[in-house]
Amino acid sequence: MTLLFKVDNDRGQAWKSLFQCHAPDIDVRLWPDIGNPEEIRYLATWQPPPDVHLLLPNLQAIFATSAGVDQFDLSCLPPRVEVVRMLDPGIAQAIVEYACFAVLALHRKMPGYLAQQRQQQWNVQPWVAAHQQRVGVMGLGNLGMAVLDRLRTFGFSLKGWARSAKQIDAVECFAGTEQLPQFLGQCDILLCLLPLTRDTRGILNASTLAALPRGAKLINLGRGAHLVEADLLQALDSGHLEHAVLDVLNDEPPAADHRFWLHPGIWLTPHIGAMTQPETAFEVLLANIRRHQQGETMIGRIERTMGY
Ligand code: GLV
Repeated sequence: MTLLFKVDNDRGQAWKSLFQCHAPDIDVRLWPDIGNPEEIRYLATWQPPPDVHLLLPNLQAIFATSAGVDQFDLSCLPPRVEVVRMLDPGIAQAIVEYACFAVLALHRKMPGYLAQQRQQQWNVQPWVAAHQQRVGVMGLGNLGMAVLDRLRTFGFSLKGWARSAKQIDAVECFAGTEQLPQFLGQCDILLCLLPLTRDTRGILNASTLAALPRGAKLINLGRGAHLVEADLLQALDSGHLEHAVLDVLNDEPPAADHRFWLHPGIWLTPHIGAMTQPETAFEVLLANIRRHQQGETMIGRIERTMGY
């Protein structure tokens, strides 16, 4: 059974040693040394090579080394090739850390206090208790749920929105397009953790941002394409939105003259929310390969029609 990794060299070596040590029956190859392409059954990668199904004629499954799979053109892949997203517990842990950092920073008005410091001002802003702070999470998959679980411990007033109805302890849940405005109207801090699909592309736009309460703050940990960048600038410049924390952008890195770089209402980080680590992801990947070998359904398998 042959598994090909197309990842950066350091991580490739780490994956290879883990398999050699714990699953020596699986022959691991590292791109570009693929050997006989007909032998390759599995591919693990962030970006598959072009025409992957022609290059690897016996490919049965592609394992994304990422939580999101929007970078794959699913329509080009033959149905025999299953696509599986990465459910590394290390990714969830890292996203929880980033989400808590950003929510707490906004809750405790850090952007304003840091600006005050630069102006040598010592002003105490009005206090907002955690239970008065309404925090809304868009996307209630494994990452959204993990974030809500941790945010709950701070006592925030929690809201959640997803495509389909969910019930989550101590979270007021909303579903579908009809309930989106009602959800947004109750989010002082909005955190996007949606998968990028046909339906969610551009979902953070002039009309949805306008539905947020005045002075709301946005955190984007999903994909850059969820956000219409010009609409965010407009909402910040008009004072409707107070601040945005963005870890993902349409173009990464943004152009040198992109307004986000120097905008006082934006904190920008270079897509560091989470990164799959072979040490934490290995067990998940191996368990899925074993499932596939036994004809069982793999965990995190993508539903082609839904795109996630
Ligand atoms: C990173 O953005 C991921 O999808 O894992």
